[in-house]
Amino acid sequence: MKDKLQQIKEEAYKQIQASDALEKLNEVRVNFLGKKGQLTEVLKSMKDVAAEDRPKVGQMVNDARAEIEKALEETRTKMERAVREQQMKMETIDVTLPAKKDELGHRHPDTIALEEVERIFIGMGYEVVEGPEVETDYYNFEALNIPADHPAKDEQDTFYISGDFLLRTQTSGTQVHEMEKGKLPIRMIAPGRVFRSDEVDATHSPSFHQVEGLVVDQHITFADLKGTLAEFAKELFGEDTRVRFRPHHFNFTEPSAEVDVSCFKCGGKGCRFCKGTGWIEILGCGMVHPNVLRMSNIDPEEYSGFAFGMGLERISLLKYEIDDMRLLYENDIRFLKQF
Ligand code: DAH
Repeated sequence: MKDKLQQIKEEAYKQIQASDALEKLNEVRVNFLGKKGQLTEVLKSMKDVAAEDRPKVGQMVNDARAEIEKALEETRTKMERAVREQQMKMETIDVTLPAKKDELGHRHPDTIALEEVERIFIGMGYEVVEGPEVETDYYNFEALNIPADHPAKDEQDTFYISGDFLLRTQTSGTQVHEMEKGKLPIRMIAPGRVFRSDEVDATHSPSFHQVEGLVVDQHITFADLKGTLAEFAKELFGEDTRVRFRPHHFNFTEPSAEVDVSCFKCGGKGCRFCKGTGWIEILGCGMVHPNVLRMSNIDPEEYSGFAFGMGLERISLLKYEIDDMRLLYENDIRFLKQF
């Protein structure tokens, strides 16, 4: 019996050592200690052992069982530790991996163009101011000499919020806000967003930007306006740029003009860029209408002024030779990065 137990123990040890996974170890346990296991079989055969030997043999079987259990337990602990270590190794952070890049944005062509326009006018002593995007009918139309029944109100396809409030269709209302402050002289530009009920296409958008300009002082003449815009055009489009004033009509200026610059692509000879004319329209302007000055409590006998307004998107499209305005609103970083 003793030999038999020894044999079982040795066999169990061998199988324990050969186990390379927890499941195998469990099989060994079942094989030796389970209900039908080898050691259990030995216990079952106790009835054949002489009665006086039974306690001794029983003790031997229990000892063998304890030893096998101990070996199983030790091996199980070792295996579990190895598994855990393996897991930890796999879970370590690889600090040499390249980090996920934070996609940095890029300045928008409108922003770059606006900063350029601001730089030029600040250089000429202008102040940069802002006006509200939600305006009253008074500031957007009435105080600009556009009376209630004037067709210009339709032309501008206004977004009305209520009878009196609207999304401004032009930045010209900032002129009125500035004049109402009562501080003269005024030399200001006012960039900002404007809104019109326009269909989107390559040259239109229901929301775009303008830069308004206003100068009010004593003895301001059309010559000042011409000189200022000629200088501006040279700074923005290049030293050789010439300007051309065409008579036009705006309610808030008298006389009024539209201004073209000589095509900076062909120098004025005519090309595809300027549609063969040699000129490109960039803004509207004029001498501030006496009615407008009067409504803002400025005496037109003592003061005079000029004003101008340009579309910022138009400047960006021209300056960066972009042929579709919609590209400016898509914010595709691959597009923006080119400027
Ligand atoms: N507000 C005009 C527009 O939206 C542009 C403009 C024209 C502004 C002449 C002016 C100006 O200040 O004098 O079409």
